[in-house]
Parts: sequence; C-alpha cells; structure tokens
Amino acid sequence: MGREKILAILEENQGRYISGEEISACLGVSRSAVWKKIKNLRELGYKITGSPRAGYLFEGAPDLLYPWEIQKGLRTRLFGKEFFHFRQVGSTNLAAQDLARKGYPEGTVVVAEEQTAGRGRWKRAWFSPPELGIWFSLILRPPLVPLKVPQITLVAGVACARALHAELGFKPGIKWPNDLVCDGKKVCGILAELEAAAEQLNYLILGIGINVNQVKDDFPLELREAAVSLRMVAGRRLRRLPLLRRLLEFLEEEYELFCSTGFAGAREKWLEYQVTLGKRVRVQEGKEEFYGEALDLDFDGSLLLRLAGGETRRCASGEVMLCRET
Ligand code: BTN
Repeated sequence: MGREKILAILEENQGRYISGEEISACLGVSRSAVWKKIKNLRELGYKITGSPRAGYLFEGAPDLLYPWEIQKGLRTRLFGKEFFHFRQVGSTNLAAQDLARKGYPEGTVVVAEEQTAGRGRWKRAWFSPPELGIWFSLILRPPLVPLKVPQITLVAGVACARALHAELGFKPGIKWPNDLVCDGKKVCGILAELEAAAEQLNYLILGIGINVNQVKDDFPLELREAAVSLRMVAGRRLRRLPLLRRLLEFLEEEYELFCSTGFAGAREKWLEYQVTLGKRVRVQEGKEEFYGEALDLDFDGSLLLRLAGGETRRCASGEVMLCRET
C-alpha cells in the first residue's frame, strides 16, 4: 500500500473522522496495516488524531518538502521527477554532484530541510537553518560549451524572480548576475558548479537557496543588514511547498526556452527585474576592484560598465555592490 493512497483518503476526509475500517476497506488491507501507516505518517509530521470510537481525523500536513508532496500537482515534464529529500545534509550541491556522477538524469532535484555546510559563491558559507528556507540543487546536462554556463545562472535568476512574483505578488529585484533582492537585501542566491572535460560539459549543478520564513533574529548578526526573508517582506509566514513547485515549473520553462532558442528571451525578462543598471557600482573581480556605472547587460550576459575614467569595461563574472547614492 503506497503512502500516497492513504494520504489521498485522509485528505479527502479532512475535517471529519474516518474509521480505520473504512480506510482498510478502501485500500483492501488489514486494519493493523492501516494503523502502522498512520503511525508512520505521524512520525513524518502529519497531524492525525485517533479516537477509538470515531477513527482518524486528518488535521494537516507538515510544511516539509517531501517528494510525494511536491510531486502532487507539479506541472513539469522533467524537473523534480527524480527527487531526493534530506532532513539534514552538508550541501545539496555536493549531494547532487554525487548523484550526477552516478548518472542521475537532468531534472533530478536534491532538497534539504537544513544544510550544515551550505556553499555560497566565492567560497562563502551559505546560512541554511532547518525548515526556514528552500535549499535545493538541480542536475542539468545542457548541450552547451562551459563558456555559456554563466548565462544559465542568469536564466535561473529570471526563473526564480518570475516564480516568486507569480506566487507572492511582489516583484523581487535581480542584482547582477543573479542575486534576488527585496528592499536592497538578499533573499535568494544561486551557485552553479560544473564538471567539464575537453570543452564538453558533463553536468551542471544549479544550487538555489531562498530565505523563506526567517525573522530578523534568525539571521546571524553579520547577515542582518544584508539578508532578508520572504516572510519579512510579505509580513506573513509562507508555505514552502507551493513555492518550490512554482520554482521548478518556472525553472523548467526558462531552461527549455534557453536551450532551444538561446539567451535573448531571458535577457529581456532579466531587464524587467534588474536593479543594477543605471547605478554606481563597485565590482570585485578576483583580486581586482573597480568602480563605475552599470550601463547594460550584454547579449552574452556580461555586465557593461562605464568606468570612472570614461572607458567601457565588460564584466563576465564578479561580485557587484551597489553604491549608496549621496
Ligand atoms: C550565493 O552565494 O549567492 C549562492 C548561494 C547558493 C546557496 C544554495 S542553497 C542550496 C545549494 N547548496 C549549497 O550548498 N549551496 C546552494
């Protein structure tokens, strides 16, 4: 008897008691098998009250990112069809790398409730406390040369911005290349890690971290000025499940469009969400640092800058800090 079947019966009867007998008749299994399944569901965090006379009362599912919950009503062709869920893991990017090496297909998702060694760009740590965010990685096998990978991260930024906008009704900004910000603070980061040999991309791991339900005090002191959660912006606690479903749907749509028609479409959408152009910025590229005005997003995804001396500079990778206007 699958977990999905008993859950479907309980959910259909949400708000009213259903007897163990009725459930066992529906499923064609013994009452003790039903009892065992109910016990297992409770251990997974489902609220199910039991009464010896009336039976079972389903009172709700936990807001955990279980594969069978995400896959319910997920409108994707590929993304999330293979789905790994961890209560705790070092980094979903590393777990996904292992799976990619073992041959897991494009679209495989690894999600964790908590990461103990979450990785950010530039070898920084990514703060990933239990059940407060969406920490996940996607295996991709795009037919591309490694040089084009930065474009995929921009495409992913666009997909995430569109998903949050559609689901929550407010528009996050994209800070070049793909940080999502609300009120100038970071709400989502993207880390792409790839394995390539001889100009041939083997796989790409797209790791995405979204601050969802933290309140200000949940962030360590050093992040409080720079980070924000969707809950702090929306003013209410959010369910992560529908959000992750939306993210996977928009990611698949944008990724398929990018693979079949190139970067131009995503570039247009990036421009609708961006908060970098026209601003004075400080750019850190490796050990080099320079100041200038962000002019445009080039057709390959690079940032075009006008430096203080007037000359134009392309920036293919780097960290952008928006300067305060005085
Ligand atoms: C950044 O520095 O902006 C990128 C942060 C990326 C964080 C995500 S959380 C899920 C995935 N696993 C990781 O270890 N990192 C990425």
